Amino acid sequence: MLLTSPVTPCVAAPVSPPIVLRSSASCPAGAVIFVESPNVNIMPFTANVNDRDHLVVGGCDTVELARRFGTPLWVVDEKTIEQAARAIQSALAGYPRWRVLYAGKAFLCLAICHIIRRLGLGLDVVSPGELYTAAAAEFPADLLYMHGNNKSESEIRDGLSYGSVKIVVDSESELEMVARVAGELGKKARILIRVTPGVVPDTHHYIRTGHADSKFGLPLEHLGRVVAEIARLGDSVELAGLHAHIGSQSQEIEPYCEIIEILADCLQEIKQSQGLELGELDVGGGLGIAYTQADRPVPIYEWGQAVAAQTIASFESRGLNLPTLVLEPGRSIVGTAGVTLYTAGHAKDLPGGPKYLAVDGGMADNPRPVTYQARYTACVASRMHGPRPDKAITLVGKYCESGDIIVKDAYLTATAGDVIAVFGTGAYNYSMASNYNRTGRPACVLVSDGQAEVIVERESYADLLRQDRVPSRLREQGSCV
Ligand SMILES: Cc1ncc(COP(=O)(O)O)c(C=O)c1O
Repeated sequence: MLLTSPVTPCVAAPVSPPIVLRSSASCPAGAVIFVESPNVNIMPFTANVNDRDHLVVGGCDTVELARRFGTPLWVVDEKTIEQAARAIQSALAGYPRWRVLYAGKAFLCLAICHIIRRLGLGLDVVSPGELYTAAAAEFPADLLYMHGNNKSESEIRDGLSYGSVKIVVDSESELEMVARVAGELGKKARILIRVTPGVVPDTHHYIRTGHADSKFGLPLEHLGRVVAEIARLGDSVELAGLHAHIGSQSQEIEPYCEIIEILADCLQEIKQSQGLELGELDVGGGLGIAYTQADRPVPIYEWGQAVAAQTIASFESRGLNLPTLVLEPGRSIVGTAGVTLYTAGHAKDLPGGPKYLAVDGGMADNPRPVTYQARYTACVASRMHGPRPDKAITLVGKYCESGDIIVKDAYLTATAGDVIAVFGTGAYNYSMASNYNRTGRPACVLVSDGQAEVIVERESYADLLRQDRVPSRLREQGSCV
């Protein structure tokens, strides 16, 4: 089969090495278990090739999916999401109290809310629209956390009215607003304070958030006075814990260990100065996935184990009670589950220059490459064992930007009409998509056990016009010249 990398990737997901549990309530210390972590694979767990030489995902022939639902098409493999959730949950099973929140910003729609709920995950929402979606799916309020660096008063009111959501407070003025709104509603707001720990992960600067001069969170230096202020606010606010998030697509464990140490120091300081032992430690999300053969993210299972082990070490060494550990993975839960299907169109072989192959989608359905030079892997889904070219081609989109490049070095041979699959598009594709060039967003199809069901309809031309209004004076015929 041909992919963008000269190295042959594995179609069937590789089995992660056995993992030895250090200690666990449900599993004795030293027990060896196998947990497969989807985030280390480029393809979904169920990816395979059938006897027609077509890519199969979730038991569905992708060429058939392209024919039935049209392209571009976002395909989401339910089993891969389940597997990622299971991996992180089993990694934490030995830790006394924990909660995994799925970060909805990665990809949220009603069906995803239902899947996440069924898997026993909580949900982190970052906008009124995400909160509205969660509420429409009747997502339990006590499993909802509200994020955002500029929450509005109405957003806070909606959250508190929905039920016992937790609000992750991002600034001192927001704290004041939360207290006021909670007071007006006669409620007690349960909050976490987001701090910027000054930890910089190995990722693109646009998706770093934990550095000291970040727009997110409170500087550590201000934490003491904010905690004192919360005590003064009395009944309207209850401080549950601290939160930090370093950024996204991190492939390393070390930044997480660092933030746990820093937050443990903060909690110790709060205990000593205010006599308050906070019960919750939320270390955010940000674990990376493998987009190409060059990526080596920590398996999600190992990430969970390492974070739990570090929390135990950091808290026990300071004589602190173990907190409820909260993680907020988004990309590593849904990223690998997504495959985008395109139809190949025109090709160009420039003299002395690159060879281009254009597909019927691009930066409007996947703005990550043009936004922060994200890299992807592609294959010809309609001819998985087709010939491999000597030279890489450049897979480009159809939008009016030179930067609309999907894969710069794609080792594939395709002609017009072939179905092209791009992997790792489950996170930050649908959620970041636009209507650029007046294009409708693609449909999204959930696949599982050979069944394919639309979970988001394709936007029609009528959808594109739905919000348009023409002032009547513009309807008058004639020209002003
Ligand atoms: C506060 C917070 N939590 C969780 C996430 C999820 O990150 P990821 O999808 O990389 O796991 C983000 C992403 O930006 C975030 O800002």
